[in-house]
Amino acid sequence: MNGTTDPRLSLRTEQIAPFLAMEVMERGMALAREGHDVIQLGVGEPDFDAPPEAVRAAMDALARGETHYTDSRGLRSLREAIAADSQARRGVATDPDRVLVTLGTSPAILMALQVLVNPGDEVLIPTPHYPCYPNMVVACGGVPRFVPTFAADGYRIDVAALEAARTPRTKAIMLASPANPTGAVQPRETVEAIAALGLPVLSDEIYDGLLFDGQTVTSPLGFSEDTFVLDGFSKRYAMTGFRLGYLIAPAWASRALQSLQQSQFISATHFVQSAGIAALTHGAPHLEHMRGTYQRRRDLLLAGLRELGLGIPTAPTGAFYILADARHLGQDSLAMATRIVEQAHVAVGPGRDFGVIAEGHLRFSYATSEAQIERALERLARALPALRS
Ligand SMILES: Cc1ncc(COP(=O)(O)O)c(C=O)c1O
Repeated sequence: MNGTTDPRLSLRTEQIAPFLAMEVMERGMALAREGHDVIQLGVGEPDFDAPPEAVRAAMDALARGETHYTDSRGLRSLREAIAADSQARRGVATDPDRVLVTLGTSPAILMALQVLVNPGDEVLIPTPHYPCYPNMVVACGGVPRFVPTFAADGYRIDVAALEAARTPRTKAIMLASPANPTGAVQPRETVEAIAALGLPVLSDEIYDGLLFDGQTVTSPLGFSEDTFVLDGFSKRYAMTGFRLGYLIAPAWASRALQSLQQSQFISATHFVQSAGIAALTHGAPHLEHMRGTYQRRRDLLLAGLRELGLGIPTAPTGAFYILADARHLGQDSLAMATRIVEQAHVAVGPGRDFGVIAEGHLRFSYATSEAQIERALERLARALPALRS
């Protein structure tokens, strides 16, 4: 429940949980406005600038008058560029007609669920999970079914547990690799086994490319025709505010998705689509720079948090998050995160956001500089022991 019970609100809206990390971040912002020096480790927002080529392309496109609706599926040139990028990264030939350009990855997730889920249908979600997944399932009238994964084995998805959680009402499986909040990357054989279950797989690949220690990622697209790839430019190219993403859908779903897009969003933003082409064309060196920087930050934060006694049995190898077990300090992650931001002026994400299984954990984002991470660790060294009291 979102805590805003009002008879005028729909029951579905009432079930949407608030994103607690945002609330801690907002408290941090309020403290900063009061003059405190607050370090933000709470949010999943890259601190890098967008590739200058993408910025320039957006400005040029605006100047050229690219200020109109486009084809609801997106500019043909962008869809071709996305298909070529998909083929290069996933090793699977991709038909541009199966690409739908969206206003970020979030609408891509929502629309994939909308075309699959009837009221009461179930969607399997490995947990800890990105909080928007169950919220979007609920927004579609569906029922999220959580399947636990565990830190001890690197949050590897147990395919037998997925199978056991499946019922005649199960319509799809959510897969995120690398994942938010764990930074876990699923091994190839796990992805292949998930695809072999014969259910549509919604594969959120927004963190692909942000990989460490030589890690590689496998998309179910190569194993199952019933894969919906959900992807975008927010993380890989640090383009969160551009709001640009896409769906690569099975042929049988393309027309329904196009109709949904026409009714709900009409099209993605015209000039932003040109920025997307520029990011795909020129973004590789920027991505490599960010990836190397994130890896150094991960090493620093991981070592520091472990030294402070937080439980992180397996090093995350993707995205830019560490989910750390703090249950020896307290059970209530929101209370812990609130005390940390109030007393140490470090904003972190309460684990509860990411599922019951992550309660008592804290999520640290390292989308901030090494200097800030070092300062945050010093403050945490003073603040964490006090949490026990
Ligand atoms: C796993 C995951 N999927 C999707 C999104 C949303 O991305 P977008 O900005 O493209 O809507 C996020 C944002 O944090 C995310 O962590």
